[in-house]
Amino acid sequence: MIPGTIWLFAERRVTDETKRYSDMRRPMQFLGIETSCDETAAAVVADGRTVRSSVVSSQIDQHRPFGGVVPEIASRAHVDLLPDVVEAALLQAGLSWDGLDGIAVTYGPGLASSLQIGLRAAQALALRLGKPLHGVNHLAGHCYSILLDPAVASPESVLPLIVLLVTGGHTMLVRVDAWGTYRLLGQTLDDAVGEALDKGATLMGLGYPGGPEIEKAARGGDPARHDFPRGLRGGGAGWYGALPRACCFSFSGLKTALRYMCQQHPEYAAEQERKHLAASYQEAAFDALLDRLERALAQEAVPQFACVGGVARNERLRAKLDALATRCGVRWYTVPPAYCTDNAAMIAGLAGHLAGQGVQNPLPDDVQPNLPLCRT
Ligand code: KG4
Ligand code: ZN
Repeated sequence: MIPGTIWLFAERRVTDETKRYSDMRRPMQFLGIETSCDETAAAVVADGRTVRSSVVSSQIDQHRPFGGVVPEIASRAHVDLLPDVVEAALLQAGLSWDGLDGIAVTYGPGLASSLQIGLRAAQALALRLGKPLHGVNHLAGHCYSILLDPAVASPESVLPLIVLLVTGGHTMLVRVDAWGTYRLLGQTLDDAVGEALDKGATLMGLGYPGGPEIEKAARGGDPARHDFPRGLRGGGAGWYGALPRACCFSFSGLKTALRYMCQQHPEYAAEQERKHLAASYQEAAFDALLDRLERALAQEAVPQFACVGGVARNERLRAKLDALATRCGVRWYTVPPAYCTDNAAMIAGLAGHLAGQGVQNPLPDDVQPNLPLCRT
């Protein structure tokens, strides 16, 4: 904690947000703060690429008894955890407050009460330290997370890029031609794929969060044992969506199919049979992702893609993406596992990269729980 500072009260106004960084000789160091859901995270990233520290304090144990994130518990936990998490990030980076060049914070989308904690803390820090504040879209942070892999040559080298973004709250296909500019190609009409995995795990009597539990349960299971629907796979008539059907997703039917299967055949969810059920359910979800991704690649004629977000941690999905890339003759970028799920390095990284390019990041006054990635 900064000596003598009360976090949530501002002392003076920052006047130099538009400060240019290009003349600086030492690496530009950004502190990132991320509290959009149930992870309290802070990180220090240099020049938008080099992760000096990344601290994530998970609240999973507090939400587990409820089988999902409880917003009130999440926001209270952020209040308790954030000061120590920020201090740990600075300590691990070997940096003093003075060494920071900017404070980056997620201001949406996410849970309003959780976002508030991160944004107010970041605003107070920025004002107290006299450092510029940079608002970051959480989904844009996920897209940028592939750049946290030091093996990737440069942010420009991966463009143009199709991003398959798969988290607990979103499932979308996005085209990126420049960092900071995103075009939505398609998205889910109902549940996100992570949500379908989380809810499916509950129906199968598995733990929380469901994605990793299903992955574990599916090991050694037969993915072709049960035939689950792959939503929106067919051509179909009567499409009223704003985005083309070819790149949209639907996972609610998959979840309903599992519910009926568990009701009609409780033996499928019993321990010795469950691996086949988990493997088949997961396979159907991933087949739908791959089907739409392949269509997007063909439609956009872009020779590279990335898969980002919590679900991208899944080994089975990664293997299927690898096979798709080989079959289509395109390159694909994956995210280091630690940066697939929510973290602050992707927030500090994107803000730092854009600021280094002279791009003005948003200066948010308030959180935006429904902040879109693209204004289409
Ligand atoms: O990106 P993320 O941490 O948070 C959001 O922005 O939503 O994603 C969380 C989602 C959850 O639905 C979780 O079940 C899923 O990512 N997830 C996984 C795995 N690890 C996390 N899904 C499948 N396999 C995994 N190994
Ligand atoms: Zn996320």
